[in-house]
Amino acid sequence: MTNKHLLDIETLDTQRIVQFLDTAEVFFDVSRRKVRKVPTLRGKTVINLFFEASTRTRTSFEIAGKRLSADVVNVSSSGSSVSKGETLLDTVKNLEAMRPDVLVIRHSSSGAPHFVAKHTTASVINAGDGTHEHPTQALLDAFTIRRSKGSIRDLVVTITGDVTHSRVARSNAHLLAKLGARVRVCGPRTMMPPGIERLGVEVFDDFARAAEGADVLMMLRIQRERMGEVLFPTAREYSRQFGLGKRVLAMAKPDAIVMHPGPMNRGVEIDPEVADGPQSVILDQVEAGVAVRMATLYLLAGEAGQSPLS
Ligand code: NCD
Repeated sequence: MTNKHLLDIETLDTQRIVQFLDTAEVFFDVSRRKVRKVPTLRGKTVINLFFEASTRTRTSFEIAGKRLSADVVNVSSSGSSVSKGETLLDTVKNLEAMRPDVLVIRHSSSGAPHFVAKHTTASVINAGDGTHEHPTQALLDAFTIRRSKGSIRDLVVTITGDVTHSRVARSNAHLLAKLGARVRVCGPRTMMPPGIERLGVEVFDDFARAAEGADVLMMLRIQRERMGEVLFPTAREYSRQFGLGKRVLAMAKPDAIVMHPGPMNRGVEIDPEVADGPQSVILDQVEAGVAVRMATLYLLAGEAGQSPLS
């Protein structure tokens, strides 16, 4: 069960995490070749089932599948029978009848991929479920950090933003802790889930202090739909306290890297000067996304004993 799907980071053991990262290294090189395709998943079918908006995640799963020679089909809620009121279970049963090998699912409800996994014989990959987890994002973030810093152990990683509603933060906190990083989370108190310390993270509400001596500054998107709620007054106010600009960046280690999962709100959680500056690895994260998703598809849907590139 655990090795058939990728549903969350919380229940993944460290050895499996390292296997995903090491395998992604092999596929990273494939994407830099002239011919960016290997026959590994020939004859396999991958369905991308996206019930929420996505640019990077959906595109990179599609490209990952195609670079592995799988047949990739994209289904999104608008334009599918979901918009006619079909239930998730009915949608899955119908797709199941077409015998896919992998279902990649993004859904606004936490736990939707776990539900789908109970009703299909395909492998299920969680591409983001509600406020719960986004495992491939955490894997690509770890891959990017590891390539930049060599190792993750003992690094100080500061994750800043609306931690309560961030599946990116949750998956990263689990993964980075498992690999031995010292994780700090920072944001307004209204955006910190109670009991977050139990994940083994240090909690800050002063951004400059949270950034002090950090190796990695990871920014989260401020979800504009939540603005005006009680969480914080205005974008300007938020930006002044928790936006990453040069002043706070200078508190981190001189060789610190800046990360953001995208989509960015330029001028809100991150200053364009920093987002486009020399310490930013934001587009490296996107490149890593394809390699990590190729590794995920191969490890879940490849034949036993099959090598990654043939
Ligand atoms: C994130 C998501 O959708 O969870 N984006 C992504 O997958 N790169 C983060 C976000 O939307 O804020």
